[in-house]
Amino acid sequence: MAMVRVRRLLLFAAAQALVLWLLCLLAWNPRVQTARTALGDWLNGRHLYPCAFLKRPAVFAHGDSHYYVVWETTCASGTPVLEWWAEAAGSGPAPVRHYTKPSYRTIDGAHHRYTAIIGPVAGAARVSYKASSYRLSTAQHTFSRRGESERTRVLVIADNQNGPTVFRRVLDAIQRHYGSGSGPDAVLHVGDAVQSVDSLGDWQKQMFSPMEDGGGYLQRAPLVFVPGNHDHDKRRTPNNANVYADMYHGLYRTDDLDSVAVKNGSYHRFHHSLSLGGARLIVLDAECPSEEQSAFLERELRSDAFQAARFRIVAVHIPPFMEFWDPYAWNKKGEKHWGEHVRLEYNRLFREHRVDLVISGHQHNYQRSTVRRGEDPARASTITYAIVGGAGGALDRKRVEDWHMYNTTFLDHHFVAMDIDDRRLSWTAHNIAGTVVDSFVIERQVHGPPGAGRER
Ligand SMILES: [Fe+2]
Repeated sequence: MAMVRVRRLLLFAAAQALVLWLLCLLAWNPRVQTARTALGDWLNGRHLYPCAFLKRPAVFAHGDSHYYVVWETTCASGTPVLEWWAEAAGSGPAPVRHYTKPSYRTIDGAHHRYTAIIGPVAGAARVSYKASSYRLSTAQHTFSRRGESERTRVLVIADNQNGPTVFRRVLDAIQRHYGSGSGPDAVLHVGDAVQSVDSLGDWQKQMFSPMEDGGGYLQRAPLVFVPGNHDHDKRRTPNNANVYADMYHGLYRTDDLDSVAVKNGSYHRFHHSLSLGGARLIVLDAECPSEEQSAFLERELRSDAFQAARFRIVAVHIPPFMEFWDPYAWNKKGEKHWGEHVRLEYNRLFREHRVDLVISGHQHNYQRSTVRRGEDPARASTITYAIVGGAGGALDRKRVEDWHMYNTTFLDHHFVAMDIDDRRLSWTAHNIAGTVVDSFVIERQVHGPPGAGRER
C-alpha cells in the first residue's frame, strides 16, 4: 500500500513538473510574449492596468558626455526624480549623487512620460542611475563607458518595425551570442524601430517591450538611435508625434532644452556624432536633408576628432546603394528616389573624407560591400557599405537594382556584433540560429597611416 502511495506521489510530482515546464516554455515563447504585451497595452488603454512603469528608463547616447533618459508610467506619479552618479575607473572616493528633476509630459491618461539628461560625465568609466517617485521606483542600473583603447562591443540592428515576434527571436539569438549577464556596451539602431511613429502601441509592442524582455539592453547599454522614415514625425509643429524619438534635442548645448521649440515639441534635429571606443560615429537623418545637416556633415568629416579616430563610421538609415525593394513601390510610386541625396551628395563626401564604414538599414535584408574609395590603388584605402535591415520586419527579397558591388547578400533576419578594439574593428553578422553569415575586419597598423584597412 505504501509503495502505491509513493508511486502516486511521484507521478503527481512529475505531472506538476511537466505542467511547470510547459508553462515556462509558453511564457518564453515569442508569440505569447507579443500577445501578452498587446493585452497589457489594451488593458492600459482602458485604464485597467495598475500604476506601474510602462517603460523602464531607456538610455540614449547623447553626444560624448551626456545621456538622454526616457521612462513612462501608467499613472501620474508625484515628485519624480532621476538619481544618478558617475564613477572613474578604479577605486576612489564615493561619487557625488545627482538628483535630476525630469521633464514631464502627459501623452494621454495612460501614458505619462518623463525625460532627463545624465551628464556631463566626461572621464567616467561607469554611470549608475535609478528613477523613482513617491509611488514607484526602478532597480539601480549601471552601464560602462569604455576608454579609447578598450574593447567596445556594439550591437547593430535595424528595421524591427512591425515584426515584434521575429524581433524577439533575434533578441534571443543576441542574448545567446553575448551570454547571460553580459551584453554589448552600446546598441546602434539604424532606424525603423516601429511601423507608425504616432502609434503608442507600436512603440510599446515593437520596440520597448521586446527590448526590455530580450536582455534589458536599453537599461544597460546606451542606444545610439539613427532615425528611420517610420520613426519620426517630420512636421515642425508643436506637440508633433515625436514622443519617444526626440532624444537628440539639446545635443550640443544642454541649454537648448530650455528652448521654446523643445518645450512645445516642434524641435527637429537628429544628426549628431560621438565616439565609441576608438571609433568616431556620425549619425545622419536620411529623411530630412537640410542645409544645416549638410554643413554639419562637412564640419564633422573634417574635424580632428573624426580624422584622428582609428575607425571612421557613418550611420544613416537609407543606404547609398539599394538593390532590394518592392518593385511596384520602387518603380511606380517613386520610392527609388527616396534618400537619393545619400548617394548623390553624402557619399561623395564619405569617400573624400576617408570614411571606413557606412552602416544603413531600410532595406530588409543584409548586404555588405567593401570597395576602394578612389581609382588610385596605391592609396590602399577602402570603404565598406553595410545594410543591416533584418531585425524583424518583413523581408525584401525582390531585386530592383544591381550595383555590381556587394560581396555578400543574405536574405533573412539577422543582427551584427561589431567589436571595436585598440587596432581592430571586427564585424560579424549572425542569423537567428546564431550562425555567422558574414564577417570582415578593419585593422590599423600601430605606426601605419590611418585608413589602411584590409578585408578578411
Ligand atoms: Fe526605412
